[in-house]
Amino acid sequence: MKIKIISSITVLVLLASVDTMAQKTLGEATKGKFLFGTAVNMQQVNGVNPIETELIAKEFTTIVAENCMKPQPIHPEENRYNWDDADKLVAFGEKNKQVVTGHCLIWHSQIGRWFFTDADGKDVSPDVLKERMRQHITTVVGRYKGRVKGWDVVNEAFEDNGTYRNSKFYQILGKDFIKYAFQFAHDADPNVELYYNDYNVETPAKCDAIVGLVKELKAAGCRIDAVGSQAHMHMNSPTLEATETSFKKLKAAGVKILITEWDISILPSPYDGANISASFKYSKEMDPYREAIPDSIQQKWNKRVLDMFGLFLKYHEVIDRVTVWGLTDNTNWLNNFPIRGRKDYPVLFDRNNQRKPVVDEMIKMAEKQ
Ligand code: G3I
Repeated sequence: MKIKIISSITVLVLLASVDTMAQKTLGEATKGKFLFGTAVNMQQVNGVNPIETELIAKEFTTIVAENCMKPQPIHPEENRYNWDDADKLVAFGEKNKQVVTGHCLIWHSQIGRWFFTDADGKDVSPDVLKERMRQHITTVVGRYKGRVKGWDVVNEAFEDNGTYRNSKFYQILGKDFIKYAFQFAHDADPNVELYYNDYNVETPAKCDAIVGLVKELKAAGCRIDAVGSQAHMHMNSPTLEATETSFKKLKAAGVKILITEWDISILPSPYDGANISASFKYSKEMDPYREAIPDSIQQKWNKRVLDMFGLFLKYHEVIDRVTVWGLTDNTNWLNNFPIRGRKDYPVLFDRNNQRKPVVDEMIKMAEKQ
């Protein structure tokens, strides 16, 4: 009789510990190492799918707006701002005691054409563009002063070969548009953290250009707290070595590192990276896992996730945050980029809002550190 009672107690304790393990979140497991978060869309903030909303509130210690705080959505016309979505998202993060990041103040994409054009449809003068940048940055950063921990001040200003992207900002103001943006953001909120954000930071020439920018900004007396490495990855690129080399270079430049938009596409890629302006034609061979993923491929993806996450943990002293670019495979931007209408599996929750098995492996890894 006694043995029976002991064994049933043992079973209960075991179940409880398994259950606790299952309950443990990545946000909890990475506490003390780095913030762990996700990009959030407005359907999730508005509770259109309550399961997703609940998961975001529970699983993560930080959130970032996938779209609503970008130049075009938040400032669609020179004299009109659209605060509703951004206000709701920031309030959502505060309610869930999450750190909120602002993305993004200055970007060549998703920005109103009005920013660069005068009444005659011609390019505005450097002074006019600089003043429009100042207005935009001062107003947006000022509105969320003390509520947003840091801003992606400038997004994607370099090409992969390390040259400046020939954006309208660059054409009209030259490379100094970056310095102006950081200065305006700091003037608007001296306590907010300021970041430069880009994709393919693991590419040596691009990483060197970003390190050069960090040094130039510091030499000009500008505050720059971190470089955001978007980390939009594929099955074979970037390599672990290239990723680690970029971490070493950025650490040596005296800035923190943020993994700002992490996802790992499992699909064949017509090219590496996330240069949003590229696009390619749909074909069946480029969309091989519509019905299901062969276990061998899933295992390869899991290993890729764990290898990269292990590297992030190795550099947790200089990495302040890891953000996955979206909660579930279902609503992920990669289903339509760089090829529209594909079925990708790039993030940590599946199409049924279930945590993928690799997440428990990640939690074990984080707890072992
Ligand atoms: O909100 C409008 C909607 O009203 C309209 O009916 C619909 C019709 O197309 O478009 C909707 O806007 C879309 C927006 O996402 C919100 O869903 C835009 O067309 C679409 O281009 C936009 O895509 C976003 C993309 O940036 C372009 O800005 C993706 O969701 C977002 O994941 C992606 O994120 C970027 C980062 O900000 C910067 N780094 C690269 C990353 C991936 O491209």
